[in-house]
Amino acid sequence: MSSRFTITTAIDYTNAAPHIGHAYEKILADVIARFQRLRGREVLFITGVDQHGQKVKQAAENKGISPQEFANSVTAKFTSLWDALGISYDRWAATTDPTHKEVVRKILRKLYEAGDLYKSTHSGFYSVRQEQFLTDKDRNEAGEFGPEWGEVTSLQEDNWYFRLTSHFSWLLKFVESHPEFVLPGFRQAEVINALRRGGQDLCISRPKSRLSWGIELPFDSEFVTYVWFDALINYISFAGYLASDPEEEKRFWDHWPALHVIGKDIMVPAHAIYWPIMLHAMGFSDERIPRLLVHGWWNRKGLKISKSLGNAVDPVELVSRYGSGPLRYYFVRDIATGQDADFNEERLVMLYNSELANGIGNLLNRTLNMAHRYLGGAIRSECGFPEGEALRQERRFLAEQYFVYMEAFEINSAIDVINKIATLSNIFAENTAPWALAKDPSQKERLEGVLKTLCESIWLIASLLTPILPRESTAMLQQLNMKPINFSTPNLDISLIAPLIVGKPTPVFPKIELESDQQMRP
Ligand code: MSP
Repeated sequence: MSSRFTITTAIDYTNAAPHIGHAYEKILADVIARFQRLRGREVLFITGVDQHGQKVKQAAENKGISPQEFANSVTAKFTSLWDALGISYDRWAATTDPTHKEVVRKILRKLYEAGDLYKSTHSGFYSVRQEQFLTDKDRNEAGEFGPEWGEVTSLQEDNWYFRLTSHFSWLLKFVESHPEFVLPGFRQAEVINALRRGGQDLCISRPKSRLSWGIELPFDSEFVTYVWFDALINYISFAGYLASDPEEEKRFWDHWPALHVIGKDIMVPAHAIYWPIMLHAMGFSDERIPRLLVHGWWNRKGLKISKSLGNAVDPVELVSRYGSGPLRYYFVRDIATGQDADFNEERLVMLYNSELANGIGNLLNRTLNMAHRYLGGAIRSECGFPEGEALRQERRFLAEQYFVYMEAFEINSAIDVINKIATLSNIFAENTAPWALAKDPSQKERLEGVLKTLCESIWLIASLLTPILPRESTAMLQQLNMKPINFSTPNLDISLIAPLIVGKPTPVFPKIELESDQQMRP
C-alpha cells in the first residue's frame, strides 16, 4: 500500500443542524484517518458542508435571511461539533468557497468544450425535495410518486445535460473488473443492477428563474449548476485539482485517488454512477477512480430517523451529557461497518461502563496502583518472567488481527480485539495475584515481571486505541509515562526495553452513573 492515504466524507447539507448520522460518518472517517497516521502514512482528510441548492435556499427563506447567512450559521454548528468530537480533518470543504467555485467552473468549461454537455428542453414531473425530474420508474406500485419525493410538480424547461449514458458501458466494465470499487462488496450488485437498468443523461443545471443559489454556468449565465454536480467536485477541488499553484496540483496527483466514506442512500446514483463518469469524462484514468466505503444507517427502534417521526437525537446534547469519548466509542463499537444499527442510549452507557470503565480502566488503575504500592512506581525492563510468555504471544496474535480488521475498516471487530487483550490481561493479573507475591520478598523478581507484563499490555491497548479514543489513549500513555508504539514498522513484539517510572493513576474512564432523575431516551 502507498504511504499516502486520502479520505473524504460526504459533505453535509447546511439546511439543518447536524444529526447522529452525520456524527457517525465523521467519527468513522476520523478513526480510519487516525489509524492510517498511526501506520505512519501521510494522510489527507477532507470533510465539509454542502451549502448550495434548493434545500438550503428554502430553509433560509423560512428564516427570512440570505442563503449565505443561513449556510454560515448552520456550518458553525457542524464545525463546533466536529471540534468537540476531535475530528482531525486537514481541509474544510465548504462549497461556497471561491476556490471551489472556480474549479467547478473550469471543469464545466472543459466538459462543454469537449462536447460532453448539451442544452435541451424537458417537460415532466419534478420533485422539489430531491431536486430532480422524475420518471415512471420512480412511481410506486400504486403508480404514484410516493411521499419520499415530497411535493411533485409538473414542469417544462430548458436545461443543460451531461452525456452520462454514453459512458455507461465503460462504467459497467470498470465496476465488473474492479471488485474493490465499492466496500462492502455486497453493494457492488446494486451498482451493476442500476447500470443494467439504464438511465438518462444527467441534468446539470437549474434555471436561475427558479433557483439562483448555486454556481453560475461559465457558458450560460441564465443557469446555475445542479447541487450534486457542484458537491461531488468538492472531493477534488479541495484536494488541489486544477489549483493555480503547480506545486499544489502536483500534490493532488500524489494523493489521488481517495477513499470516499458515504452513506448507503447516496451510493446510487450520485457516488457510484455520476461521480466516476464525471471523472472519466474529465480524463481520469481507471487507476484514478476513487473507492467508496459505504456505511449503513443509524435507526431508532428499527425506524429511520426523521423529522416527521420526531425520533431524532441531538448529537450536541449527547456530547454535553457523556463527553466525546463515550460517543466516539459507541458509534464505531455498536455497528458493523456497512450494516445498519439501532441507536440505543442504554447500550451506549452499558458498553462504556463494562468495556472501558470496568475492563480497560480497571486494568490501568490496578496496575499503576500496584506498581506504586509495591515497587515505588519503578518497572524494570530486564526482569525475567517466563510465565508471561503465553500472554505476550496472545497479544501479538491479537494485535495482528487488529491490523487486519482496521485495514478492512471493520472497526467494531478491531475493538473486540482490544477488549480481548484487556480481558486476558485482567485474567493474567487474577491468576498471578501480584498482591500475594508482594507479601513474599523471595518473589520480588516474579512480582516485577508480572507488573512489567501488565504495563506492556496497557502500552499496547492505549496505542491501539489512539484512532478510536485519541484523548483517553493519550491520558493512558501519559500515566504510563510512555509514547505510543510506533506501528509504521510491522514489528508487533511488544516488550519494554528500558526501565520505566509510571505515573499515579487517575481514572481515564470514570463510570457513567446516571442520576435517578436523569432520563435516558426510551
Ligand atoms: N450533501 C449530500 C452529500 C454530498 S457528497 C458530495 C448529502 N448530505 S446529507 O446531509 O443529507 O447526508 C450526509 C451524510 O450523512 C450522507 O453520507 C448520509 O448517508 C449520512 N446520513 C444521514 N443520515 C444518516 C443516518 N441516520 N445514519 C447514518 N448516516 C446517515 O447527502
